[in-house]
Amino acid sequence: MRLSDQPLISRKAIEARVAELASEVASHHGDGPLLMVVVLKGAAMFACDLMRKLPMPVTVEYVRASSYVGKRSSGEVDVDSLPAAGRVRGRRILLVEDILDTGYTISRLRAGLDRLKPARITLCTLLDKPSRRKTEVAADYVGFVIPDSFVVGYGLDYNEQYRQLPDVYALEDE
Ligand code: XMP
Ligand code: MG
Repeated sequence: MRLSDQPLISRKAIEARVAELASEVASHHGDGPLLMVVVLKGAAMFACDLMRKLPMPVTVEYVRASSYVGKRSSGEVDVDSLPAAGRVRGRRILLVEDILDTGYTISRLRAGLDRLKPARITLCTLLDKPSRRKTEVAADYVGFVIPDSFVVGYGLDYNEQYRQLPDVYALEDE
């Protein structure tokens, strides 16, 4: 496996788009407090950049979910460590994900969070691969729609590698 020669999405494009997403979120949500629920580990870098651009009071919770082994979605999603119910009830949630692929992960997470009775859940994903969707889930805020290739960088990994890259690359077979 090797990285594409050129980034699929450059750090400059990411930075500009993150600022736009923050403006969209702010214009829809107004001044009220927002609870960001960030899906580890992939969305951590995106969430840190996004939260620095949000004007309203923000609190953060992190959840872990994994369905991927290597480049394959296993279809079985492990959701770890949902926030305590008291932190979610009645709150407006912005669920922050790195990439929407089959949609299994977010469906499971949304269902788990719904049971904790938030006022509302909106979904923000940096990347979206709609061609791979297996569930009916759509994001309210999408950074970039990408084709069906496996991507790494800016938080996204292949077997835990490449998360630290500031740009997003496609991972190609040699
Ligand atoms: P599902 O299929 O549940 O998957 O929507 C979402 C999760 O799968 C991971 N994923 C990727 N990770 N490059 C990655 O590094 C990719 O191209 C990719 N596609 C899916 C990701 O962890 C996401 O949370
Ligand atoms: Mg992930």
